Amino acid sequence: MGSLGKTKELENEPVQNGGGKIEERRHQWRFDTLQIHAGLEENPVHGHITLPIYNTASFKFEKLSDMNNALEDMSAPENKHLYSRLSNPTNDGAERRITALEDGADGLVYSSGTAAVYAILVSLAGMGDNVIVSTGLHGGTFKQFRKAGAQLGIEARFCDTNDLERVRQVINDRTRFIFVESLANPKLSVPDYDGLIAIAHSPNLKIPLVVDATFTACGYFCQPAQYGADIIVHSASKWIAGHGTTIAGAIVETGRSDWQSNRTRFPRLHGEDPDLKKFDVSQDNWYKTAGDKAFIRYLKNDVLRDTGSCLSPYASQQLFIGLETLSVRCERQEKTTRSIAHWLRAHPRVAWVGYLGFEDHPYHHLALKYLQRGFGTVITLGLIGGGEMAEKIIDAFKLIITTTNVGDSKTLCNHHWSGVNKHYSKEENEEMGVTEDLIRLSLGLEDLQDIIWDFEQAFDQAQL
Ligand SMILES: Cc1ncc(COP(=O)(O)O)c(C=O)c1O
Repeated sequence: MGSLGKTKELENEPVQNGGGKIEERRHQWRFDTLQIHAGLEENPVHGHITLPIYNTASFKFEKLSDMNNALEDMSAPENKHLYSRLSNPTNDGAERRITALEDGADGLVYSSGTAAVYAILVSLAGMGDNVIVSTGLHGGTFKQFRKAGAQLGIEARFCDTNDLERVRQVINDRTRFIFVESLANPKLSVPDYDGLIAIAHSPNLKIPLVVDATFTACGYFCQPAQYGADIIVHSASKWIAGHGTTIAGAIVETGRSDWQSNRTRFPRLHGEDPDLKKFDVSQDNWYKTAGDKAFIRYLKNDVLRDTGSCLSPYASQQLFIGLETLSVRCERQEKTTRSIAHWLRAHPRVAWVGYLGFEDHPYHHLALKYLQRGFGTVITLGLIGGGEMAEKIIDAFKLIITTTNVGDSKTLCNHHWSGVNKHYSKEENEEMGVTEDLIRLSLGLEDLQDIIWDFEQAFDQAQL
């Protein structure tokens, strides 16, 4: 079992981020407090105690010159909001809360997790570059890197990123980042942070380690920043929103390493993009303005501005409220996950169960090292009867919902082989940990006995 004691104890240090009145206090607030207070407005006009939806397309200025200054650097702390495609106070609140929970330096919300991953790809890489991508990957992200990457002239070099020798082999002088998932969907692999960071941050490389931390629930089960990760990305549609209400994404910059200073690999952060120079397009030096927060500054001012994949303030408020119960949901769901994993493993109709808490799980040792408060809220399983039985059982569930989502308050299941991973080759699926019989189960908040009852009645119905 991962240590529950990793959550920081009281220290005489101000919290680095999170916003709101809690920034003034002189100690490190714990996770449960941050999830409720971080991101609240400091001096709310009406004294409101949650984050209102600022449903306004643009913002009024007394002086034209103030508006024009704000246009120059929309994310400079001294400048106010200008236009809601670029920033909005509700989005700000959600960004501060997510950043605080991931122990980051700055953050940005996006219209979806996919839009957030895309923003990372197009902002850091370009024609002729390559990126190293873990095969322990959500099927949609695999497709995104392979196809959208190829269309942009960016090569995704897929490999088992825990094979550090292989990672070293595929890196070259056009490599722009390493991309992994903190708990891979659905492979349930865990990255070797120490090994990957030693490679990514080596003085002759200085590239970011990008972690899709969706499955570790916004810092609850793991804060990749603690292990040196540079950029965290989330599908906030999952544990952050938490109730299946919202499609959203988020990016957090941890600001702890100096990859941003690498002007050879990341000329855009330094206002030196050679492609823009060719066309005489003016550029800003975000590294000069923001130092180790240059990446989010660049995303806010350039990439989000040009792609327009902003999040609506309605959705941001859903994230903000969803996060208030994050640890309560995760604690309960983790317990249920553990119980159901053991119950299923002992069941005669079950062939195997993939649960990181089992000592014989191939990533158990890394989970022990890097996860906290348990082993997540998703398991995988295969039944006697393989893929055919998987489909029968799924159709026989009465309570468990068949859907493509995870991280909801309801228990959800999916069969990747026949759906989202259908068009991938057997070898690709194998590398992604997807077998014909695999059922992914994301545990919700229902009574454990009702989930067990649903399995039992489904087993009765679905005979070979
Ligand atoms: C790990 C992971 N990353 C990214 C995504 C894409 O996020 P979204 O559906 O919010 O675009 C998903 C979606 O399932 C996911 O599971």
